[in-house]
Amino acid sequence: MSGGAASDAVLRVEGLVAGYVRDLPILRDVDLSLARDTLTAIIGPNGAGKSTLIKAIAGLVPVSAGRVVLDGREITGIRPDEMAGLGLAYVPQTDNVFRSLTISENLALVLRSVADRTRRLEELYALFPPLAEKRRERAGALSGGQRQMLAVAMALASRPRVMLMDEPSAGLSPKIQEEVLALARRLTREGVSILLVEQNVKQALRVADHCFILAEGRNRLDGPADRILSDPAVAEIYLGGTRVEPA
Ligand SMILES: Nc1ncnc2c1ncn2[C@@H]1O[C@H](COP(=O)(O)OP(=O)(O)OP(=O)(O)O)[C@@H](O)[C@H]1O
Ligand SMILES: [Mg+2]
Repeated sequence: MSGGAASDAVLRVEGLVAGYVRDLPILRDVDLSLARDTLTAIIGPNGAGKSTLIKAIAGLVPVSAGRVVLDGREITGIRPDEMAGLGLAYVPQTDNVFRSLTISENLALVLRSVADRTRRLEELYALFPPLAEKRRERAGALSGGQRQMLAVAMALASRPRVMLMDEPSAGLSPKIQEEVLALARRLTREGVSILLVEQNVKQALRVADHCFILAEGRNRLDGPADRILSDPAVAEIYLGGTRVEPA
């Protein structure tokens, strides 16, 4: 590749081989690049390895070959406690907030390691007024969309440059799904580059700049989202998959 997106990549994955069990790779030679200040979606059928890829980037799944490069610095196999300091954040699909704690208590937990935490807390509340309004409510009492908003706010506490999101819209109503994706889109204008796994292909392609399709642990197709949307190969990749593509 020459120039353009590849050279301006804030995150690059090269030839990644990773899996949960030794000698049983789930990801086989996966390449990916995330251009700065863009939203890139990872889609693909059930079990394609999308979550595994996100977790391997975040250092949560052992990598046996290949590398992960963040802003020119190799970060392959980072420890979870190194992540925030490197400018990377990960929003897991589930269990991403402490339900028995209030919004402000959840935020206080992640702000412990942030130097100017009072100022950062105010910035986060300014970014998400509904959280400011409900700051004394328990996370468990929030709506699904508000809980995702809190999870995103928690991930943003350390001012990451790259945020990995695994199916943030799963289990939400269509309207709230759109809001969560719009929120991800908005973050790209705040200097956060987003790598997003999304189950709803059409929504993902509407909101993303670029898209990677994984199948069976390998790269299948990638390109600008608008081009992928009209690519007949996409339907073919999903045919035979177990997940029924929502309208
Ligand atoms: N903790 C684990 N231990 C062993 N194998 C796992 C584990 N998690 C996932 N796998 C396997 O890795 C493969 C890829 O799973 P992964 O969760 O990455 O897929 P996915 O693309 O995120 O699928 P989905 O769309 O269902 O979320 C699957 O075969 C799955 O069974
Ligand atoms: Mg998954």
